[in-house]
Amino acid sequence: MRESKNQDYPPVQEMTDDQRIEIVKDIFASVTDKYDFLNKFLSGRRDVAWRERTVKEMNFFNTYRFLDVATGTGDLALDCTRKYPNVYVTGVDFVQEMVDRGNEKITVQNLSDKVELKWGDATNLEFEDNTFDVTAMAFGIRNIPDKEKALKEMKRIIVPDGQVMVLELTTPEPGFWRSIYSFYLKGLLPKLARIFTTNPSAYKYLADSIINFPTRREFVALMESVGLKNCRAIPLTFGVCTLYIGKKKHE
Ligand SMILES: C[S@@+](CC[C@H](N)C(=O)[O-])C[C@H]1O[C@@H](n2cnc3c(N)ncnc32)[C@H](O)[C@@H]1O
Repeated sequence: MRESKNQDYPPVQEMTDDQRIEIVKDIFASVTDKYDFLNKFLSGRRDVAWRERTVKEMNFFNTYRFLDVATGTGDLALDCTRKYPNVYVTGVDFVQEMVDRGNEKITVQNLSDKVELKWGDATNLEFEDNTFDVTAMAFGIRNIPDKEKALKEMKRIIVPDGQVMVLELTTPEPGFWRSIYSFYLKGLLPKLARIFTTNPSAYKYLADSIINFPTRREFVALMESVGLKNCRAIPLTFGVCTLYIGKKKHE
């Protein structure tokens, strides 16, 4: 883990795409050590249940390979291995500090023959077409300015009828839960982050990036626009998180 270069990020709407990419790299390289703890603490361990649900929806039928894009410290990759021991799992992330932390977990759990994590950019995946049955990205797409490019890459590297899955934090529909959640994101989260991290701006960015994420309908339309079929959105925990699933069409 290294110190953040910048402690005060501009609002998401005011960042250029290049600036945002650098800020995302800066954030994740500076929170690596506390990332797993904070994820679980700030979500009340719901992140664990959301990844479990994602893994439950996976269907392996051809190459028996899974790619976890923006794998971070490898939690989704590890969950997949535990549930499907006959599947070979690969994870990529463009912050080497996160990949290194994930690889430590894999070594400790003795799973190096089933899971491999390495550096890779979601918008330029270094895999052949039709390599995997399933690819998923958990809490990563929010941070990628060119979401369409990332979705096209995910589609390219899976086999026809394979699944593209995106798990992302979203805002509940307007009403009671939206009000509670907005208070949590804007009022409570930055205060908690100030107690637990040396980079509280990272959590201001987190709130900002969730609020500025496309609506469920817009994101499903984006998935359809890149040529995915049977696209659907499954709201989780009152819509605080959403699991999106689409399949690759036969050409
Ligand atoms: C919130 S973390 C999620 C990590 C993990 N998937 C999980 O479920 O905990 C987001 C991750 O996305 C990675 N990321 C963001 N943009 C990326 C890109 N273009 N290519 C690869 N990784 C990216 C970050 O480095 C970070 O590790």
